[in-house]
Amino acid sequence: MRRILIFDTTLRDGEQSPGASLNVAEKLAIAKQLDVLGVDVIEAGFPISSPGDFEGVRLVAEKIRRPIICGLARATDADIDAAGEALKGAARRRIHTFIATSKIHLEKKLKKSPEEVIELARRAVQRARRYTDDVEFSPEDAARTDLDYMCQVIEAAIDAGATTINIPDTVGYAIPEEFGARIRHVLEKVPNVRKAVISVHCHNDLGLAVANSLAAVKAGAAQVECTINGIGERAGNCSLEEVVMALRQKKAFYDADNGIDTREIWTTSRLVSNLTKLDVQRNKAIVGENAFSHEAGIHQHGVLQDRETYEIIRAEDVGWQGSRIFIGKHSGKHGVMDILKKNGYQLEDDKLQVVLQRVKDVADRQKNVEESDIVAIARDVLEDLASDEHLLDLREVSVMTGNGFTPSATIKLSIEGQDVLGTGTGVGPVDAASHALQSIIRSHVGPSLTLSEYGLKGITGGTDALAHATIRFKDQDGKEFRGEAVHGDVIIASVQAMVKGANRAMNFQKRLNKGGPTGCIDPKTPPGGEAPATAGEAPCCGQSKNQTSKQKP
Ligand code: KIV
Ligand code: ZN
Repeated sequence: MRRILIFDTTLRDGEQSPGASLNVAEKLAIAKQLDVLGVDVIEAGFPISSPGDFEGVRLVAEKIRRPIICGLARATDADIDAAGEALKGAARRRIHTFIATSKIHLEKKLKKSPEEVIELARRAVQRARRYTDDVEFSPEDAARTDLDYMCQVIEAAIDAGATTINIPDTVGYAIPEEFGARIRHVLEKVPNVRKAVISVHCHNDLGLAVANSLAAVKAGAAQVECTINGIGERAGNCSLEEVVMALRQKKAFYDADNGIDTREIWTTSRLVSNLTKLDVQRNKAIVGENAFSHEAGIHQHGVLQDRETYEIIRAEDVGWQGSRIFIGKHSGKHGVMDILKKNGYQLEDDKLQVVLQRVKDVADRQKNVEESDIVAIARDVLEDLASDEHLLDLREVSVMTGNGFTPSATIKLSIEGQDVLGTGTGVGPVDAASHALQSIIRSHVGPSLTLSEYGLKGITGGTDALAHATIRFKDQDGKEFRGEAVHGDVIIASVQAMVKGANRAMNFQKRLNKGGPTGCIDPKTPPGGEAPATAGEAPCCGQSKNQTSKQKP
């Protein structure tokens, strides 16, 4: 039976998801869990893209010893040297270098001839071999590259010393039969192909990333690149949990297995979701909240008679522990700690006490507190304890609403110790509160901080559910400052989220005025101590991901 290598790129391609960003401590926490999960390769980042990415790769390489640690590099000397340097401390290191090969990329992006690109690929692999004898090469946009030309590039890369050839469907253009045939063609036509492992890397623009990867495995590919929860650029990458469970389920068909401990899937999924703040859709295969729930009476009846009537995977096999664990006001510290641990949080005692107190406060009002409430409270507490100074404090909020008159709000804030009052009206109470707050911000913080995004969701069902508010403020330079808060009252949650966002903006401005570091590049100390940090600073003290100088492939 063949062994399919699982190459995880959650920390590199996954982190390129719009809205996701991880600091160094968070990357390390995820890498540790990926090690426990049993992945063969961890692509830890793109070292030249930013000092934070370099440091993330360096730290993962130093601390995680079993899997191969990989760093991404374009086919340039500077990129490859940065990757080589970041990976120096690794027990097992790989440099992954790439250059685009499709006609459109050659003509429009690289402005190079096919021959020049072959030469650059050859040189890049040779240079990478100075740092390690484990070198992966990818012809970017392979799925749209002329087949014969792609084979020539691959032959040259192997000739130069590449030990893995990765065929990416960069834009998610392929369909399974076509992609499988492409892999088969490479295996049949490239003369030196047996000297390298053939890998695939599929994007999900047509929702086919997993199907294409499986077709490639059937055709002979021996490595699959994927991410936890399928996160990644645009519509994401091939989802690790889906491809792994499909391979397990159909072991005989693929005549292949892999080294993943599937019982670690659920925890890994939740850890990645909590740290990247990218929710897992409820009906997502394998790791969605509904993946093992049965609603229809006929199904429930069947499952009660014999689980296999309607379930092809045992929930325990993917580590699903059920989310409807209720914590009441009489539940102890251990129940809460267990839930936090399962979701990737190991809090120091003082922080845990704050979380416990908040959980108890909610339990006093609500009958039961659910797992997702507890995780949201922990996120909120950690964010509150994050390194930013509390320049703004919310003192009072009052709103008047009803039908037949205009909703209005009054807010009292303390700004650097001084109480300030603001009022506003709006189409509803949240809108009025937002205008009241913005009137204070306009006159006391900065003229041009505008609310660019607002989201509100009930964490668990019911009218007494906790509300989770998220906002983004934009300043005059387009920099974004995120805030999120959890509260039993939707208006308080919304205003608290706005205050947090405004506080971040003020801290940023203060650091800028002092000429000190804005925190845009420096990794933040994890507020959760040993734990994965969760304090939700938007990438780089509020600067939106798209605006950082980080370069992406
Ligand atoms: O999608 C892609 O082409 C990539 C490469 C860097 C392999 O992520
Ligand atoms: Zn990719």
